[in-house]
Amino acid sequence: MLEKIQTTEKNFKSDLSEVGDLNHLEELRIKYLGRKGLFAILFDEFKQLPNEEKPKYGQTLNRLKIQCQNEFNEIKSKFSETAEDDDKGIDLTLPGRSVNIGTKHILMQTLFQIKSIFKGLGFSVYEGPELESDYNNFEALNFPADHPARDMQDTFFVNENFLFRTHTSPVQVRLMKEKKPPIRAIIPGKVYRNEAISAKSYCLFHQVEGLYIDGNVSFAELKGTLVAFAKQFFGNDVKYRFRPSFFPFTEPSAEVDIWWQPKGKEGRWLEILGCGMVDPNVLENVGIDSEKYTGYAFGMGAERIAMLKYGIGDIRVFFDNDKRFLTQF
Ligand code: PHE
Repeated sequence: MLEKIQTTEKNFKSDLSEVGDLNHLEELRIKYLGRKGLFAILFDEFKQLPNEEKPKYGQTLNRLKIQCQNEFNEIKSKFSETAEDDDKGIDLTLPGRSVNIGTKHILMQTLFQIKSIFKGLGFSVYEGPELESDYNNFEALNFPADHPARDMQDTFFVNENFLFRTHTSPVQVRLMKEKKPPIRAIIPGKVYRNEAISAKSYCLFHQVEGLYIDGNVSFAELKGTLVAFAKQFFGNDVKYRFRPSFFPFTEPSAEVDIWWQPKGKEGRWLEILGCGMVDPNVLENVGIDSEKYTGYAFGMGAERIAMLKYGIGDIRVFFDNDKRFLTQF
């Protein structure tokens, strides 16, 4: 009898040490402590012992049963605690959540670069309103009413006298009216054009206007400034050219092209800006003596030069807010 009790104790301990979960534990409880369990069998045997032998085993058997019950309860409560932790949703084996940190939009980064290059060349930064008068956007810039040059820029009119500016040049007019020369400023901002939307053009884009008015400003200075900019922005080995052009508010006028060489494809010239010497008519319109002062102006498309620098093939991606595009920069 004693041997049987000892074996049961040993087996119970080793079984218990291998227990994996609550179901397994319950199986063991039934195996040992259930109504037909191993302890029940031991007690049946105990009852059949002769009376004089009963005291010898009774105590041991009882103590062992209570001890087993206690151990069983202890393990059960440990399992329940971990089960509760699981309910709280904490699973330390899960991979961590990554935090998405935002970045500046590539266009804003580009505008920032342009501004800092021109600040380094002695320009201040100004801004003007996007809703403009027809006078500032066209008339003061030497586009006479009904002049075909207005067709160069398809316009969103708000009413007869107001419109969404089609370029940043009207801010030239505002600045020259407000300040006395010397004026050396750049003016970044949004402009709007009523154009068919395609890979090449969008209904809104960004320009950076430049204006320098002083005694004896020359075309050579304009050229020097724009070349310095192009080299800083695109790199010293940038290939550029100045091409004669026409704008009603500058004379002479030019456009600057940059050589675009996509890998494995044929390269070509891409226009990035218009520029020229401020037309004396414009100076007179804003009350600056055109005998005393001369000046130059330029206007560049920010999307255009970002597309060139980063090899972006479609202007619409700047406005789509597609994370696959935005997170590349
Ligand atoms: N405003 C012109 C455009 O939008 C660019 C320009 C600016 C040209 C200043 C000459 C001088 O096309």
